Amino acid sequence: MITVTSVGQLKEYRDSLEGSVGFVPTMGALHEGHLSLIRRSIAENDHTVVSIFVNPTQFGPNEDLETYPRTIEDDAAQLKRLGVECLFAPKSSGEIYPLGLQRGPFVDVDLGWATKGLEARTRPGFFKGVATVVAKLLLLVRPGTAYFGQKDWQQLTVVKALCEGLFLNVKIESVETARDPNGLALSSRNSYLEPSARLAASDIYKGLLKAAASARLGMAKSSLFEPIEQLWHQHVLDGRFKIDYLELCTRNLEPIEAVCNSCVVLCAVYVHGVRLIDNILITV
Ligand code: PAJ
Repeated sequence: MITVTSVGQLKEYRDSLEGSVGFVPTMGALHEGHLSLIRRSIAENDHTVVSIFVNPTQFGPNEDLETYPRTIEDDAAQLKRLGVECLFAPKSSGEIYPLGLQRGPFVDVDLGWATKGLEARTRPGFFKGVATVVAKLLLLVRPGTAYFGQKDWQQLTVVKALCEGLFLNVKIESVETARDPNGLALSSRNSYLEPSARLAASDIYKGLLKAAASARLGMAKSSLFEPIEQLWHQHVLDGRFKIDYLELCTRNLEPIEAVCNSCVVLCAVYVHGVRLIDNILITV
């Protein structure tokens, strides 16, 4: 595996490639969820590039940019074992934001509509930061296919819109959410959870499964969330859970009032103060 840490080196490496290129952008602290994306890319492409960059522009002022887990050496060893050809790990944010960040990133990609609902309500600048960094990375790596996880459904939707809107000519492949055996969606932020909180957090997905089962039985939206709320009730009372949102949308994230034949239930829950997101696709 070659590791490149500057944009110059990345360009040189990219120009040397022939054949198909798959790309998996990440912020590191790699877990089985990331690895499932990377395995797909390796299986489907001649070359696979993985990036590790904790992107400052997608963190809000009170978020965990400073404390976000950084495990670059372990990550690099895992990538090497998997057979990744190239790791792009920018040595500083100046590589990606050469005009500096003090007065903003200077060039922003802003998908206005994405700054409205769900994640964007609590994290107003988040998708601008994600869209900006993903656009930059895709333009640098020029992959034929890039891989994103369904766990971040809204991010996936934003990235698809970004590629379509800017004619980026990249195929976006989505990969199913990887979970702990008890159902908890894998996330780098799970490392902030103590064992008891991690166990409680597994009720997030159990609740989503109940909602999906109710939807399949034809339950109306008004009572769809009842089984979830019952399951989470004690955690909410104990103060373990604080529900940020729980919503039913079409797969393109338009809010809907009735279950339709292809929809998604999405939630964000603070578990012991750690904000976790998850979703479930429902095909009726
Ligand atoms: P990060 O949280 O590191 O995630 C990188 C990729 O892994 C994303 O596409 C995410 O959806 C996917 N992923 C995370 N957990 C997963 C799981 N349990 N199962 C399947 N896929 C999972 O998402 C980001 O980084 C950043 O916003 C990024 C796109 C890199 C831009 O900075």
